[in-house]
Amino acid sequence: MLIEVREGPASRPAVRPLFAQVYPDAVLKNVPWRNVVSAPADRRVLVLDDEGNVVAAAGLTIRAGAWNGVPVRIGGIGGVMVSPSRQRQGLGRTVMCAAHENLQSDPCVQFGLLFCEPHNVTFYKALGWCRFKGQVRVEQPAGSLLYDIMQTMMLPFSTETPRAGCIDLRGLPW
Ligand SMILES: CC(C)(COP(=O)(O)OP(=O)(O)OC[C@H]1O[C@@H](n2cnc3c(N)ncnc32)[C@H](O)[C@@H]1OP(=O)(O)O)[C@@H](O)C(=O)NCCC(=O)NCCS
Repeated sequence: MLIEVREGPASRPAVRPLFAQVYPDAVLKNVPWRNVVSAPADRRVLVLDDEGNVVAAAGLTIRAGAWNGVPVRIGGIGGVMVSPSRQRQGLGRTVMCAAHENLQSDPCVQFGLLFCEPHNVTFYKALGWCRFKGQVRVEQPAGSLLYDIMQTMMLPFSTETPRAGCIDLRGLPW
């Protein structure tokens, strides 16, 4: 296995086959985020098998947002995927740990933030993430709105990590 970090736009074609495996049409039409316009990843962590196939991925989006009106620098993680035939073998943990490391190497990033469906909360909790109990505001083409279609989770990098209140992403979600 090889772990690589690649730039967002350039790495997009590399994750297309994995996306198609994880989200075939029958699955995609039922995900809660099917109509959400998402921010493109700034960079991606990829796990490649010995044949060079991308078997796991996570997208990273760094965002200047606000918490209760105070500017904060957020390390967003989205597009976390493991090839269906390789799930429950530790690859999800591997790609997330590399993503955490990458975010924490930026001293300006204050905490991690991701959105997930309820059935994945246990997976993220085991990796140190905790539920955010406040509100999250995001931008969509129709304007600013409260984003409550998924669970928001935070990865604390310090004791100042928000647990409640209002986070404004000041842009598209991821
Ligand atoms: C969610 C996902 C990334 C997990 O990847 P994975 O490779 O199966 O996870 P791992 O094997 O690394 O598991 C890590 C730990 O989480 C646990 N875990 C994994 N999936 C879990 C689940 N759905 N529910 C509960 N626990 C889970 C594992 O048991 C393991 O615990 P352990 O370290 O104590 O043994 C993968 O199932 C996936 O790609 N799902 C489809 C796409 C998706 O939902 N992505 C997340 C979008 S927010």
